[in-house]
Amino acid sequence: MSIDRMAVVGGGTMGNGIAHVFALSGREVIIVDLKQEVLDESLSTIEANLTRQEKKDRISTNEKDAALDRIRTSTDIADGVAEVDLVVEAVSETMDVKASVFQELDEHAPDHAILASNTSSISITALAAETDRPEQIIGMHFFNPVPVMRLVEIVRGLVTSDDIYETVEALAEHLGKTPVEVEDYPGFVSNRILMPMINEAIFCVMEGVASVEDIDTVMKLGMNHPMGPLTLADFIGLDVCLNIMEVLHNELGDDKYRPCPLLRRMVVAGKLGRKTGAGFYDYE
Ligand code: CAA
Repeated sequence: MSIDRMAVVGGGTMGNGIAHVFALSGREVIIVDLKQEVLDESLSTIEANLTRQEKKDRISTNEKDAALDRIRTSTDIADGVAEVDLVVEAVSETMDVKASVFQELDEHAPDHAILASNTSSISITALAAETDRPEQIIGMHFFNPVPVMRLVEIVRGLVTSDDIYETVEALAEHLGKTPVEVEDYPGFVSNRILMPMINEAIFCVMEGVASVEDIDTVMKLGMNHPMGPLTLADFIGLDVCLNIMEVLHNELGDDKYRPCPLLRRMVVAGKLGRKTGAGFYDYE
């Protein structure tokens, strides 16, 4: 099955990155969001990131202009997904919100369309159960910044068909990404390993083992991580980190996944990282 036209639902950081890589790969893209301001912001971010790639000679001016020409936006989900082969959902990480988006997608997308989710923590099998096409539901978990990060975790729900899996795997390769097949368990592979590491770094801050800067330096210089865990937590968003730890803790039932109390306090205080101007570091 060929994927020529696709829609991204949700125009935030992940949504605009996903639209960016699909448009560069030659596909027609529609970004759907309830808010026109989000769509406008999304388009200007994509333009800025394409320009950054153009300036670094990663892409030509023609490739940049052609990619921008392939992107449309819509505030109407029914209209946005009516003629696509694939939808990638990238709305907020709340089961209620995602469940209602999947019900709408199932109603309005063509029968043959694959419905993928970029979720980092919600069960693909549970999202599939919201639709009448559970074998066509799959996880395509991208990483921020999407144009740069090479991995896509492809998450098989319990009843995802082999055909759909193979189509999405080939598609990820065509986008220039490296797909990895993972089963539908909490946090998949990436966040099951990454989030406990970040959580442990926050315990180190709480217990005064070392300063924020020194904890990051240990992991950057000692383990060659591009960003220290606390810088990375700020980059991802502390609310997202807490949410994923809660999913791991609730669904795997093991206390080794208990969220650090300091992480909870920072989220309550609204210190969510880069997006709010403060987290473990100050961004003002
Ligand atoms: N769009 C396009 N290009 C971008 C970009 C963007 N948004 N952001 C950075 N780049 C490009 C830069 O232009 C630069 O290109 P060249 O290689 O051609 O020079 C390259 O990426 C590196 O960027 P910088 O030189 O500006 O900065 P850097 O070397 O410090 O790298 C980084 C920045 C790529 C973000 C790096 O710090 C990094 O890899 N950090 C870790 C990121 C990470 O772990 N992400 C995963 C988070 S978890 C997640 O997303 C999923 C989840 O479920 C929570």
